[in-house]
Amino acid sequence: MTDTKFKWWQRAVFYQIYPRSFADGNGDGIGDFKGMLEKLDYLQSLGVDALWLSPHYPSPMYDCGYDISDYTAVAPEYGSLEEFTTFMHEAHTRGLRVILDLVLNHTSDQHPWFLESKSSRDNPKYDWYVWFDQPPNNWQSCFDGPAFTYVPERGQYYYHYFMQQQPDLNWRNPQVKQAMWQAVRFWLDLGADGFRLDAIGTLFEDPDLTSHSVPLTLAELRLASDRARTPAERERVNRYWREMFAHQLGQPGLHALMKELRAVLDEYDGERMLVGEDEDLAYLGNGQDELQLVFNFPLMRTDRLTPAHIRANQAERLAALSEISKNAWPCNTLGNHDSPRVYSQFGDGEHDEQLARLSLATLLTLKGTPFLYNGEEIGMTNTILTDISQFKDSMATWYYQAAVDELGLDPAEALRSAAQQTRDKGRTPLQWQNAPNAGFCPANVQPWLPINPNFAKGVNVSDQDRDPDSLLNFYRRLIAVRRATPALITGTYQPLHAQSEAYLAFLRQTADQTILVVLNFYENQLEIDFSNLTHQTASLIFSSAAAERQLSLPALSTAPFEILIAEVN
Ligand code: GLC
Repeated sequence: MTDTKFKWWQRAVFYQIYPRSFADGNGDGIGDFKGMLEKLDYLQSLGVDALWLSPHYPSPMYDCGYDISDYTAVAPEYGSLEEFTTFMHEAHTRGLRVILDLVLNHTSDQHPWFLESKSSRDNPKYDWYVWFDQPPNNWQSCFDGPAFTYVPERGQYYYHYFMQQQPDLNWRNPQVKQAMWQAVRFWLDLGADGFRLDAIGTLFEDPDLTSHSVPLTLAELRLASDRARTPAERERVNRYWREMFAHQLGQPGLHALMKELRAVLDEYDGERMLVGEDEDLAYLGNGQDELQLVFNFPLMRTDRLTPAHIRANQAERLAALSEISKNAWPCNTLGNHDSPRVYSQFGDGEHDEQLARLSLATLLTLKGTPFLYNGEEIGMTNTILTDISQFKDSMATWYYQAAVDELGLDPAEALRSAAQQTRDKGRTPLQWQNAPNAGFCPANVQPWLPINPNFAKGVNVSDQDRDPDSLLNFYRRLIAVRRATPALITGTYQPLHAQSEAYLAFLRQTADQTILVVLNFYENQLEIDFSNLTHQTASLIFSSAAAERQLSLPALSTAPFEILIAEVN
Protein backbone atom coordinates (compact mmCIF):
# COMPACT_ATOMS: atom_id res chain seq x y z
CA MET A 1 0.00 0.00 0.00
CA THR A 2 1.41 3.35 -0.98
CA ASP A 3 1.39 6.01 1.66
CA THR A 4 0.08 9.02 -0.23
CA LYS A 5 1.42 11.48 2.33
CA PHE A 6 4.82 10.99 0.78
CA LYS A 7 5.93 12.37 -2.57
CA TRP A 8 7.42 10.17 -5.27
CA TRP A 9 10.90 11.65 -4.75
CA GLN A 10 10.78 10.69 -1.06
CA ARG A 11 9.99 7.08 -1.91
CA ALA A 12 12.20 6.69 -4.97
CA VAL A 13 15.58 5.05 -5.41
CA PHE A 14 17.46 7.28 -7.88
CA TYR A 15 20.08 6.10 -10.34
CA GLN A 16 22.51 8.54 -11.93
CA ILE A 17 23.27 8.01 -15.60
CA TYR A 18 26.47 9.52 -16.92
CA PRO A 19 25.34 9.69 -20.57
CA ARG A 20 28.78 9.54 -22.13
CA SER A 21 29.63 6.28 -20.39
CA PHE A 22 26.34 4.51 -19.88
CA ALA A 23 25.41 2.82 -23.15
CA ASP A 24 26.56 3.38 -26.71
CA GLY A 25 23.71 2.65 -29.10
CA ASN A 26 25.30 3.80 -32.35
CA GLY A 27 28.73 2.26 -31.85
CA ASP A 28 30.88 5.39 -31.94
CA GLY A 29 32.51 4.87 -28.55
CA ILE A 30 30.32 7.47 -26.81
CA GLY A 31 27.12 6.77 -24.89
CA ASP A 32 23.86 8.13 -26.30
CA PHE A 33 20.07 8.16 -26.01
CA LYS A 34 19.71 5.17 -28.30
CA GLY A 35 21.84 3.21 -25.84
CA MET A 36 19.94 4.56 -22.83
CA LEU A 37 16.67 3.59 -24.46
CA GLU A 38 17.89 0.05 -25.06
CA LYS A 39 18.88 -0.24 -21.40
CA LEU A 40 15.58 0.84 -19.90
CA ASP A 41 14.57 -2.77 -19.36
CA TYR A 42 17.82 -3.31 -17.52
CA LEU A 43 17.15 -0.31 -15.30
CA GLN A 44 13.69 -1.57 -14.65
CA SER A 45 15.07 -4.98 -13.73
CA LEU A 46 17.35 -3.26 -11.24
CA GLY A 47 14.26 -1.87 -9.55
CA VAL A 48 15.18 1.81 -9.42
CA ASP A 49 12.40 4.39 -9.62
CA ALA A 50 14.04 7.51 -11.01
CA LEU A 51 16.95 8.52 -13.21
CA TRP A 52 19.20 11.56 -12.98
CA LEU A 53 20.96 12.33 -16.24
CA SER A 54 24.23 14.23 -16.12
CA PRO A 55 24.16 16.99 -18.78
CA HIS A 56 22.83 15.88 -22.15
CA TYR A 57 23.12 19.32 -23.80
CA PRO A 58 25.41 20.47 -26.61
CA SER A 59 28.83 21.21 -25.18
CA PRO A 60 32.42 21.67 -26.36
CA MET A 61 33.24 19.22 -23.55
CA TYR A 62 35.87 21.14 -21.65
CA ASP A 63 34.18 19.88 -18.53
CA CYS A 64 32.48 16.74 -19.81
CA GLY A 65 29.20 18.45 -20.59
CA TYR A 66 29.11 20.79 -17.59
CA ASP A 67 30.03 23.55 -20.06
CA ILE A 68 26.77 24.00 -21.93
CA SER A 69 26.51 25.85 -25.24
CA ASP A 70 22.75 25.43 -25.72
CA TYR A 71 20.31 24.90 -22.85
CA THR A 72 17.38 23.78 -24.97
CA ALA A 73 18.89 21.14 -27.22
CA VAL A 74 20.50 17.72 -27.11
CA ALA A 75 24.20 17.11 -27.76
CA PRO A 76 24.40 15.71 -31.32
CA GLU A 77 26.66 12.87 -30.19
CA TYR A 78 23.90 11.80 -27.76
CA GLY A 79 21.09 12.03 -30.31
CA SER A 80 18.23 14.34 -31.24
CA LEU A 81 15.55 16.05 -29.22
CA GLU A 82 13.16 13.50 -30.62
CA GLU A 83 15.30 10.67 -29.29
CA PHE A 84 15.38 12.41 -25.94
CA THR A 85 11.59 12.68 -25.80
CA THR A 86 11.20 9.06 -26.86
CA PHE A 87 13.59 8.04 -24.10
CA MET A 88 11.72 10.07 -21.51
CA HIS A 89 8.37 8.80 -22.69
CA GLU A 90 9.55 5.20 -22.56
CA ALA A 91 11.04 5.74 -19.12
CA HIS A 92 7.75 7.21 -17.91
CA THR A 93 5.83 4.32 -19.43
CA ARG A 94 7.90 1.99 -17.26
CA GLY A 95 7.22 4.10 -14.18
CA LEU A 96 10.70 5.62 -14.15
CA ARG A 97 10.94 9.36 -13.46
CA VAL A 98 13.63 11.41 -15.17
CA ILE A 99 15.42 14.43 -13.76
CA LEU A 100 17.96 16.47 -15.71
CA ASP A 101 21.11 18.30 -14.75
CA LEU A 102 20.82 22.06 -14.60
CA VAL A 103 24.01 24.10 -14.67
CA LEU A 104 23.13 27.61 -13.56
CA ASN A 105 26.44 29.07 -12.50
CA HIS A 106 28.17 29.19 -15.86
CA THR A 107 27.77 28.50 -19.54
CA SER A 108 30.34 27.36 -22.05
CA ASP A 109 32.50 30.12 -23.48
CA GLN A 110 31.03 29.00 -26.82
CA HIS A 111 27.46 29.73 -25.75
CA PRO A 112 25.97 32.48 -27.98
CA TRP A 113 25.25 34.51 -24.82
CA PHE A 114 28.93 34.64 -23.99
CA LEU A 115 30.06 35.17 -27.57
CA GLU A 116 27.80 38.21 -27.65
CA SER A 117 28.76 39.42 -24.19
CA LYS A 118 32.46 39.29 -24.91
CA SER A 119 32.15 40.98 -28.31
CA SER A 120 32.06 44.54 -26.97
CA ARG A 121 31.35 46.60 -23.88
CA ASP A 122 28.02 47.85 -25.15
CA ASN A 123 26.21 44.88 -26.66
CA PRO A 124 22.76 43.88 -25.30
CA LYS A 125 24.32 41.11 -23.21
CA TYR A 126 27.30 43.13 -22.03
CA ASP A 127 26.56 42.38 -18.36
CA TRP A 128 25.24 38.83 -18.59
CA TYR A 129 28.61 37.67 -17.23
CA VAL A 130 30.85 39.01 -14.48
CA TRP A 131 33.30 41.53 -15.95
CA PHE A 132 36.16 43.56 -14.45
CA ASP A 133 38.61 46.08 -15.85
CA GLN A 134 41.38 44.44 -13.83
CA PRO A 135 41.50 41.25 -11.74
CA PRO A 136 40.13 42.67 -8.49
CA ASN A 137 41.77 40.18 -6.11
CA ASN A 138 43.66 36.88 -5.83
CA TRP A 139 40.69 34.56 -6.36
CA GLN A 140 41.33 31.21 -7.96
CA SER A 141 39.25 29.09 -10.24
CA CYS A 142 38.91 25.74 -8.51
CA PHE A 143 39.92 23.99 -11.76
CA ASP A 144 42.56 26.06 -13.52
CA GLY A 145 44.37 28.72 -11.52
CA PRO A 146 43.53 32.44 -11.59
CA ALA A 147 39.77 33.10 -11.71
CA PHE A 148 39.95 36.04 -14.14
CA THR A 149 40.59 35.69 -17.85
CA TYR A 150 41.33 38.53 -20.27
CA VAL A 151 39.26 39.20 -23.39
CA PRO A 152 40.92 41.52 -25.91
CA GLU A 153 37.65 42.53 -27.60
CA ARG A 154 36.51 44.21 -24.39
CA GLY A 155 39.91 44.86 -22.86
CA GLN A 156 38.40 43.32 -19.72
CA TYR A 157 38.49 40.21 -17.58
CA TYR A 158 35.68 37.79 -16.90
CA TYR A 159 35.28 35.74 -13.77
CA HIS A 160 35.08 31.94 -13.76
CA TYR A 161 34.81 29.70 -10.73
CA PHE A 162 35.55 26.63 -12.89
CA MET A 163 37.58 26.35 -16.13
CA GLN A 164 38.22 29.47 -18.15
CA GLN A 165 35.93 27.84 -20.77
CA GLN A 166 33.12 28.14 -18.18
CA PRO A 167 32.43 31.86 -17.61
CA ASP A 168 30.18 32.63 -14.63
CA LEU A 169 26.79 34.14 -15.42
CA ASN A 170 25.83 37.36 -13.68
CA TRP A 171 22.87 36.25 -11.59
CA ARG A 172 22.25 39.81 -10.43
CA ASN A 173 21.00 40.55 -13.94
CA PRO A 174 17.25 39.80 -14.20
CA GLN A 175 17.59 39.00 -17.92
CA VAL A 176 19.85 36.06 -17.08
CA LYS A 177 17.16 34.70 -14.80
CA GLN A 178 14.47 35.11 -17.40
CA ALA A 179 16.54 33.32 -20.04
CA MET A 180 17.40 30.47 -17.71
CA TRP A 181 13.86 30.04 -16.37
CA GLN A 182 12.74 29.80 -19.97
CA ALA A 183 15.12 26.87 -20.48
CA VAL A 184 13.79 25.31 -17.27
CA ARG A 185 10.21 25.57 -18.57
CA PHE A 186 11.27 24.08 -21.89
CA TRP A 187 12.25 20.80 -20.21
CA LEU A 188 9.40 20.84 -17.71
CA ASP A 189 6.96 21.31 -20.60
CA LEU A 190 8.47 18.23 -22.22
CA GLY A 191 7.75 16.29 -19.04
CA ALA A 192 11.03 16.35 -17.10
CA ASP A 193 10.35 15.47 -13.48
CA GLY A 194 12.85 17.91 -12.07
CA PHE A 195 16.49 18.87 -11.91
CA ARG A 196 19.70 18.17 -10.12
CA LEU A 197 21.15 21.64 -9.59
CA ASP A 198 24.84 21.84 -10.32
CA ALA A 199 27.22 23.67 -7.99
CA ILE A 200 24.60 26.04 -6.57
CA GLY A 201 26.96 27.41 -3.95
CA THR A 202 28.98 29.14 -6.66
CA LEU A 203 26.21 31.35 -8.10
CA PHE A 204 27.13 34.57 -6.30
CA GLU A 205 30.43 36.08 -5.23
CA ASP A 206 31.31 38.25 -2.25
CA PRO A 207 30.27 41.80 -3.31
CA ASP A 208 33.28 43.20 -1.39
CA LEU A 209 35.59 41.03 -3.51
CA THR A 210 37.70 40.17 -0.46
CA SER A 211 40.94 38.33 -1.27
CA HIS A 212 41.58 34.90 0.19
CA SER A 213 44.38 34.37 2.67
CA VAL A 214 45.79 30.95 1.74
CA PRO A 215 49.57 31.00 1.20
CA LEU A 216 49.45 28.44 -1.64
CA THR A 217 48.63 28.44 -5.32
CA LEU A 218 45.88 26.13 -6.58
CA ALA A 219 48.41 23.64 -7.94
CA GLU A 220 50.28 23.63 -4.62
CA LEU A 221 47.04 23.04 -2.77
CA ARG A 222 46.10 20.12 -5.04
CA LEU A 223 49.51 18.56 -4.51
CA ALA A 224 49.26 19.09 -0.76
CA SER A 225 45.84 17.39 -0.81
CA ASP A 226 47.27 14.44 -2.66
CA ARG A 227 50.13 14.13 -0.20
CA ALA A 228 48.18 14.70 3.02
CA ARG A 229 48.23 11.47 5.00
CA THR A 230 47.72 12.18 8.68
CA PRO A 231 44.43 13.53 10.06
CA ALA A 232 46.23 16.79 10.94
CA GLU A 233 47.55 17.19 7.39
CA ARG A 234 44.14 16.47 5.95
CA GLU A 235 42.48 18.92 8.29
CA ARG A 236 44.99 21.57 7.25
CA VAL A 237 44.40 21.12 3.52
CA ASN A 238 40.65 20.99 4.02
CA ARG A 239 40.85 24.26 5.92
CA TYR A 240 42.88 25.75 3.07
CA TRP A 241 40.29 24.62 0.51
CA ARG A 242 37.53 26.22 2.58
CA GLU A 243 39.50 29.44 3.04
CA MET A 244 40.62 29.70 -0.57
CA PHE A 245 37.03 29.69 -1.85
CA ALA A 246 35.23 31.20 1.14
CA HIS A 247 34.44 34.43 -0.73
CA GLN A 248 33.27 32.68 -3.87
CA LEU A 249 30.82 30.24 -2.29
CA GLY A 250 27.58 30.46 -0.34
CA GLN A 251 27.17 34.21 -0.77
CA PRO A 252 23.99 36.26 -0.14
CA GLY A 253 21.35 36.05 -2.84
CA LEU A 254 21.25 32.29 -3.19
CA HIS A 255 18.13 31.60 -1.18
CA ALA A 256 16.02 34.27 -2.87
CA LEU A 257 17.07 32.80 -6.21
CA MET A 258 16.25 29.23 -5.19
CA LYS A 259 12.81 30.42 -4.06
CA GLU A 260 12.22 31.92 -7.50
CA LEU A 261 13.27 28.72 -9.20
CA ARG A 262 11.06 26.65 -6.90
CA ALA A 263 8.14 28.91 -7.82
CA VAL A 264 8.78 28.13 -11.51
CA LEU A 265 8.61 24.40 -10.76
CA ASP A 266 5.50 24.83 -8.66
CA GLU A 267 3.71 26.37 -11.65
CA TYR A 268 3.47 22.75 -12.80
CA ASP A 269 1.65 19.90 -11.11
CA GLY A 270 3.31 19.96 -7.71
CA GLU A 271 5.27 16.82 -8.64
CA ARG A 272 8.44 18.38 -10.06
CA MET A 273 11.48 18.40 -7.83
CA LEU A 274 14.91 19.93 -7.25
CA VAL A 275 17.93 18.29 -5.67
CA GLY A 276 20.91 20.51 -5.02
CA GLU A 277 24.55 19.62 -5.38
CA ASP A 278 25.28 20.97 -1.93
CA GLU A 279 25.18 19.60 1.56
CA ASP A 280 23.87 22.77 3.20
CA LEU A 281 20.40 22.08 4.56
CA ALA A 282 19.62 25.80 4.40
CA TYR A 283 18.74 25.17 0.72
CA LEU A 284 15.62 23.38 1.90
CA GLY A 285 14.32 26.81 2.96
CA ASN A 286 11.36 26.40 5.28
CA GLY A 287 10.84 22.87 3.93
CA GLN A 288 8.40 24.05 1.26
CA ASP A 289 9.89 26.99 -0.57
CA GLU A 290 13.37 26.09 -1.89
CA LEU A 291 14.80 22.72 -2.88
CA GLN A 292 13.19 19.41 -1.97
CA LEU A 293 16.54 17.68 -1.40
CA VAL A 294 20.23 18.31 -0.89
CA PHE A 295 22.81 15.56 -0.76
CA ASN A 296 24.23 14.23 2.49
CA PHE A 297 27.83 14.56 1.26
CA PRO A 298 29.35 14.31 4.76
CA LEU A 299 28.26 10.65 4.83
CA MET A 300 30.51 9.80 1.89
CA ARG A 301 33.41 12.01 2.94
CA THR A 302 35.37 9.27 4.67
CA ASP A 303 37.74 6.46 3.78
CA ARG A 304 35.84 3.86 5.74
CA LEU A 305 32.14 3.66 6.32
CA THR A 306 32.21 2.65 9.95
CA PRO A 307 29.22 2.25 12.24
CA ALA A 308 30.49 5.17 14.33
CA HIS A 309 30.81 7.43 11.30
CA ILE A 310 27.35 6.58 10.00
CA ARG A 311 25.73 6.98 13.41
CA ALA A 312 27.35 10.35 14.04
CA ASN A 313 26.41 11.52 10.56
CA GLN A 314 22.78 10.49 11.00
CA ALA A 315 22.52 12.03 14.44
CA GLU A 316 23.71 15.36 13.12
CA ARG A 317 21.82 15.42 9.80
CA LEU A 318 18.51 14.19 11.11
CA ALA A 319 18.57 16.60 14.04
CA ALA A 320 19.34 19.50 11.71
CA LEU A 321 16.58 18.44 9.31
CA SER A 322 14.01 18.28 12.05
CA GLU A 323 14.83 21.88 12.99
CA ILE A 324 13.85 22.97 9.48
CA SER A 325 10.47 21.31 9.31
CA LYS A 326 8.97 17.98 10.15
CA ASN A 327 8.72 17.30 6.42
CA ALA A 328 12.33 18.11 5.52
CA TRP A 329 13.67 14.97 3.90
CA PRO A 330 17.16 13.37 3.89
CA CYS A 331 19.01 12.27 0.77
CA ASN A 332 21.94 9.87 0.94
CA THR A 333 24.54 8.96 -1.61
CA LEU A 334 27.98 7.37 -1.64
CA GLY A 335 29.13 8.05 -5.19
CA ASN A 336 28.73 10.18 -8.29
CA HIS A 337 30.68 11.26 -11.38
CA ASP A 338 32.95 13.53 -9.30
CA SER A 339 34.02 10.93 -6.76
CA PRO A 340 35.96 7.71 -6.58
CA ARG A 341 34.02 4.53 -7.27
CA VAL A 342 32.08 3.31 -4.21
CA TYR A 343 33.65 -0.17 -4.48
CA SER A 344 37.18 1.27 -4.34
CA GLN A 345 36.52 4.07 -1.90
CA PHE A 346 34.90 2.04 0.84
CA GLY A 347 36.70 -1.24 0.25
CA ASP A 348 39.69 -2.33 2.33
CA GLY A 349 41.38 -4.40 -0.38
CA GLU A 350 40.46 -7.59 1.41
CA HIS A 351 36.71 -7.60 1.96
CA ASP A 352 35.70 -5.29 -0.87
CA GLU A 353 32.77 -7.38 -1.99
CA GLN A 354 31.26 -7.61 1.50
CA LEU A 355 31.88 -3.92 2.14
CA ALA A 356 30.23 -2.97 -1.18
CA ARG A 357 27.15 -4.87 -0.04
CA LEU A 358 27.23 -3.11 3.31
CA SER A 359 27.58 0.25 1.56
CA LEU A 360 24.44 -0.44 -0.43
CA ALA A 361 22.60 -1.73 2.62
CA THR A 362 23.51 1.47 4.45
CA LEU A 363 22.12 3.61 1.64
CA LEU A 364 18.92 1.64 1.26
CA THR A 365 18.04 1.24 4.91
CA LEU A 366 18.86 4.66 6.33
CA LYS A 367 16.10 7.24 6.28
CA GLY A 368 16.05 9.27 3.09
CA THR A 369 16.14 9.13 -0.68
CA PRO A 370 19.10 7.09 -1.96
CA PHE A 371 21.06 8.02 -5.09
CA LEU A 372 23.11 5.31 -6.84
CA TYR A 373 25.72 5.99 -9.52
CA ASN A 374 25.83 3.93 -12.71
CA GLY A 375 28.21 1.00 -12.54
CA GLU A 376 28.27 0.70 -8.76
CA GLU A 377 25.74 -2.12 -9.04
CA ILE A 378 28.36 -4.34 -10.66
CA GLY A 379 31.20 -3.15 -8.44
CA MET A 380 33.04 -1.07 -11.01
CA THR A 381 36.31 0.15 -9.53
CA ASN A 382 38.51 3.20 -10.00
CA THR A 383 40.43 3.08 -13.28
CA ILE A 384 43.91 4.48 -12.90
CA LEU A 385 45.00 6.10 -16.16
CA THR A 386 48.60 5.58 -17.17
CA ASP A 387 49.17 8.15 -19.90
CA ILE A 388 48.23 11.82 -19.80
CA SER A 389 46.84 11.60 -23.34
CA GLN A 390 44.05 9.36 -21.98
CA PHE A 391 42.69 12.03 -19.62
CA LYS A 392 39.44 13.80 -20.48
CA ASP A 393 38.96 15.64 -17.19
CA SER A 394 40.50 19.07 -17.87
CA MET A 395 40.74 19.81 -14.17
CA ALA A 396 43.31 17.00 -14.04
CA THR A 397 45.17 17.83 -17.25
CA TRP A 398 45.52 21.42 -16.05
CA TYR A 399 46.86 20.14 -12.75
CA TYR A 400 49.31 17.77 -14.46
CA GLN A 401 50.73 20.61 -16.55
CA ALA A 402 50.92 22.96 -13.57
CA ALA A 403 52.59 20.27 -11.47
CA VAL A 404 55.30 19.86 -14.12
CA ASP A 405 55.72 23.53 -15.12
CA GLU A 406 54.97 25.41 -11.92
CA LEU A 407 55.84 22.93 -9.20
CA GLY A 408 58.72 21.30 -11.08
CA LEU A 409 57.44 17.78 -10.45
CA ASP A 410 58.90 14.89 -12.34
CA PRO A 411 56.37 14.06 -15.13
CA ALA A 412 55.95 10.50 -13.82
CA GLU A 413 55.14 11.81 -10.36
CA ALA A 414 52.82 14.47 -11.79
CA LEU A 415 51.04 11.75 -13.75
CA ARG A 416 50.63 9.60 -10.67
CA SER A 417 49.22 12.49 -8.71
CA ALA A 418 46.88 13.56 -11.55
CA ALA A 419 45.69 9.97 -12.04
CA GLN A 420 44.71 9.86 -8.37
CA GLN A 421 42.86 13.15 -8.48
CA THR A 422 41.17 12.97 -11.84
CA ARG A 423 37.45 12.35 -11.87
CA ASP A 424 37.98 10.23 -14.98
CA LYS A 425 38.76 7.29 -12.72
CA GLY A 426 35.08 6.93 -11.88
CA ARG A 427 33.73 7.85 -15.32
CA THR A 428 34.93 5.02 -17.56
CA PRO A 429 32.37 3.22 -19.75
CA LEU A 430 29.90 0.86 -18.18
CA GLN A 431 30.97 -2.76 -18.51
CA TRP A 432 28.11 -4.66 -20.11
CA GLN A 433 29.74 -7.96 -21.12
CA ASN A 434 32.89 -10.02 -21.10
CA ALA A 435 33.56 -9.05 -24.71
CA PRO A 436 35.91 -6.65 -26.50
CA ASN A 437 35.46 -3.13 -25.07
CA ALA A 438 33.27 -4.72 -22.40
CA GLY A 439 30.43 -4.73 -24.91
CA PHE A 440 30.16 -0.95 -24.54
CA CYS A 441 31.14 -0.30 -28.16
CA PRO A 442 32.36 -2.41 -31.11
CA ALA A 443 35.79 -4.02 -30.90
CA ASN A 444 37.32 -1.80 -33.57
CA VAL A 445 36.13 1.45 -32.00
CA GLN A 446 38.03 3.38 -29.37
CA PRO A 447 35.80 4.26 -26.43
CA TRP A 448 35.96 7.89 -25.27
CA LEU A 449 37.74 6.82 -22.05
CA PRO A 450 39.66 3.57 -21.57
CA ILE A 451 37.71 0.62 -20.30
CA ASN A 452 38.70 -1.03 -17.05
CA PRO A 453 40.14 -4.46 -17.92
CA ASN A 454 38.39 -6.04 -14.96
CA PHE A 455 35.33 -6.51 -17.19
CA ALA A 456 37.03 -9.82 -18.08
CA LYS A 457 37.07 -10.81 -14.41
CA GLY A 458 33.38 -10.75 -13.80
CA VAL A 459 32.89 -7.01 -13.45
CA ASN A 460 30.25 -6.84 -16.15
CA VAL A 461 26.47 -6.88 -16.30
CA SER A 462 25.93 -9.99 -18.36
CA ASP A 463 28.07 -12.35 -16.25
CA GLN A 464 26.56 -10.99 -13.06
CA ASP A 465 23.07 -11.25 -14.45
CA ARG A 466 23.54 -15.02 -14.71
CA ASP A 467 25.09 -15.44 -11.27
CA PRO A 468 22.48 -15.43 -8.50
CA ASP A 469 25.15 -14.46 -5.94
CA SER A 470 26.56 -11.53 -7.88
CA LEU A 471 26.65 -7.98 -6.62
CA LEU A 472 24.18 -7.03 -9.35
CA ASN A 473 21.62 -9.55 -8.13
CA PHE A 474 22.28 -8.45 -4.58
CA TYR A 475 21.40 -4.87 -5.63
CA ARG A 476 18.21 -6.15 -7.23
CA ARG A 477 17.23 -8.13 -4.15
CA LEU A 478 17.92 -5.36 -1.69
CA ILE A 479 16.15 -2.71 -3.78
CA ALA A 480 13.16 -5.06 -3.97
CA VAL A 481 13.25 -5.56 -0.19
CA ARG A 482 13.21 -1.82 0.33
CA ARG A 483 10.33 -1.39 -2.08
CA ALA A 484 8.30 -4.08 -0.30
CA THR A 485 9.02 -2.80 3.21
CA PRO A 486 7.16 0.47 3.91
CA ALA A 487 9.03 1.29 7.12
CA LEU A 488 12.36 1.24 5.24
CA ILE A 489 11.01 3.96 2.96
CA THR A 490 9.03 6.25 5.20
CA GLY A 491 9.70 5.09 8.75
CA THR A 492 11.41 7.07 11.49
CA TYR A 493 15.03 6.25 12.29
CA GLN A 494 15.95 5.22 15.80
CA PRO A 495 19.57 4.31 16.52
CA LEU A 496 20.33 1.43 18.88
CA HIS A 497 23.54 0.47 20.68
CA ALA A 498 25.25 3.83 20.25
CA GLN A 499 28.60 2.47 21.43
CA SER A 500 29.11 -0.47 19.10
CA GLU A 501 32.19 -0.24 16.93
CA ALA A 502 31.55 -3.37 14.91
CA TYR A 503 27.92 -3.11 13.88
CA LEU A 504 25.20 -0.62 13.20
CA ALA A 505 21.76 -1.37 14.59
CA PHE A 506 18.67 0.76 14.26
CA LEU A 507 14.92 0.67 13.98
CA ARG A 508 12.81 2.08 11.17
CA GLN A 509 9.27 2.56 12.27
CA THR A 510 5.87 3.52 10.88
CA ALA A 511 2.50 3.26 12.63
CA ASP A 512 2.10 -0.24 11.21
CA GLN A 513 5.56 -1.67 11.04
CA THR A 514 8.83 -1.77 12.98
CA ILE A 515 11.93 -2.93 11.20
CA LEU A 516 15.18 -3.85 12.88
CA VAL A 517 18.28 -3.37 10.75
CA VAL A 518 21.61 -4.86 11.83
CA LEU A 519 24.68 -4.29 9.68
CA ASN A 520 27.72 -6.21 10.83
CA PHE A 521 30.78 -4.40 9.47
CA TYR A 522 33.06 -6.87 11.21
CA GLU A 523 34.73 -9.99 9.83
CA ASN A 524 33.63 -12.16 12.72
CA GLN A 525 30.37 -13.51 13.99
CA LEU A 526 28.79 -11.29 16.64
CA GLU A 527 26.42 -12.09 19.46
CA ILE A 528 24.28 -9.05 20.06
CA ASP A 529 22.10 -8.53 23.08
CA PHE A 530 18.83 -6.76 22.35
CA SER A 531 17.31 -7.19 25.78
CA ASN A 532 16.73 -3.44 25.99
CA LEU A 533 14.41 -3.64 23.04
CA THR A 534 10.72 -3.74 23.97
CA HIS A 535 10.06 -6.03 21.00
CA GLN A 536 10.24 -9.73 21.68
CA THR A 537 9.86 -11.48 18.37
CA ALA A 538 11.60 -10.99 15.08
CA SER A 539 10.70 -12.35 11.69
CA LEU A 540 13.26 -12.39 8.97
CA ILE A 541 12.86 -10.14 5.96
CA PHE A 542 16.36 -10.35 4.58
CA SER A 543 19.71 -11.81 5.50
CA SER A 544 22.80 -11.65 3.33
CA ALA A 545 24.13 -14.71 5.14
CA ALA A 546 21.36 -17.21 4.44
CA ALA A 547 17.98 -17.15 2.74
CA GLU A 548 16.49 -18.93 5.72
CA ARG A 549 17.82 -18.49 9.18
CA GLN A 550 16.68 -18.73 12.74
CA LEU A 551 16.09 -15.44 14.47
CA SER A 552 15.60 -15.01 18.13
CA LEU A 553 15.48 -12.08 20.47
CA PRO A 554 16.89 -10.81 22.69
CA ALA A 555 20.11 -12.70 21.87
CA LEU A 556 20.83 -12.31 18.21
CA SER A 557 23.76 -13.80 16.43
CA THR A 558 24.99 -12.27 13.17
CA ALA A 559 27.36 -13.79 10.66
CA PRO A 560 30.52 -11.95 9.50
CA PHE A 561 29.52 -8.89 7.43
CA GLU A 562 25.89 -9.88 7.67
CA ILE A 563 23.13 -7.57 6.57
CA LEU A 564 20.05 -8.43 8.56
CA ILE A 565 16.60 -6.92 8.16
CA ALA A 566 13.78 -8.18 10.34
CA GLU A 567 10.31 -7.13 11.33
CA VAL A 568 9.98 -6.98 15.09
CA ASN A 569 6.91 -7.11 17.28
C1 GLC B 1 29.64 20.14 -10.47
C2 GLC B 1 29.69 18.92 -11.35
C3 GLC B 1 31.07 18.74 -11.86
C4 GLC B 1 31.42 19.96 -12.68
C5 GLC B 1 31.22 21.25 -11.89
C6 GLC B 1 31.20 22.44 -12.79
O1 GLC B 1 30.44 20.02 -9.36
O2 GLC B 1 29.23 17.81 -10.63
O3 GLC B 1 31.22 17.58 -12.61
O4 GLC B 1 32.74 19.88 -13.11
O5 GLC B 1 30.00 21.26 -11.21
O6 GLC B 1 30.04 22.48 -13.56
